[in-house]
Amino acid sequence: MSSFDRFPLVVTIDGPAASGKSSTATAVAARLGVRHVDSGMLYRSVTAARLQAGDAPDLWTEQSVLEAARRVTLKPGETDFVPCIDGTDCGDALHGDAVTSTVSLVAKMSHVRAWVNIAVRSTAASHEVVVDGRDMGTAVFPDARLKVWLVALPVERARRRLLQRTGRAPTPAELSAETAELEARDLKDREQTQPAADAVWIDTTGISQDEQVGRIVALAEERR
Ligand code: C5P
Repeated sequence: MSSFDRFPLVVTIDGPAASGKSSTATAVAARLGVRHVDSGMLYRSVTAARLQAGDAPDLWTEQSVLEAARRVTLKPGETDFVPCIDGTDCGDALHGDAVTSTVSLVAKMSHVRAWVNIAVRSTAASHEVVVDGRDMGTAVFPDARLKVWLVALPVERARRRLLQRTGRAPTPAELSAETAELEARDLKDREQTQPAADAVWIDTTGISQDEQVGRIVALAEERR
């Protein structure tokens, strides 16, 4: 028996904006029969809860954001943990422009990061999990059994995001606007977006979703 056998499986999948972390983590968790936790959705939920007060984000204090965070909980679902505000799943609204353009500001607040990290860690106390985000393999689960760092060229990430959003190939103008938006968010998030020294790097630019999921599942099975 290896020393790992005493601990539940944790797989971390980190990477920059729109690198496919969340969809990959969902598929990997389903194949492994464990739950998915999306830490970005927690940051988004805290931001959405704070936005409800209606005042300008550049005036927000960290204390007021933490008060909004108290209304956010992670509800265990069939296959994942769902972030809820006042008990309600906010779903697609969390990916709207208001949240996306403000979330990096919230994610810079150290006490908010500590709050999210505790919430994410608590899921792994009782379940095997695949968690995705920016710093899951460094700050949150430094001892995770498997750490993956997903990368893809910005223009490829933008193309996939637009395809997912509109269901059609983007025009050159749409592609360049989305690439610029992603690069701007990467810059804002760069401090907390770091690969763990022992992460397995997977460049998804030229490979299919099935292939990347297959590679991660195979690695996780080896280490399970
Ligand atoms: O992954 P997603 O794009 O949904 O994350 C939204 C935002 O949450 C990121 O732009 C980043 O500011 C923040 N985030 C973070 N650390 C994580 C996950 C997300 O700072 N582990």
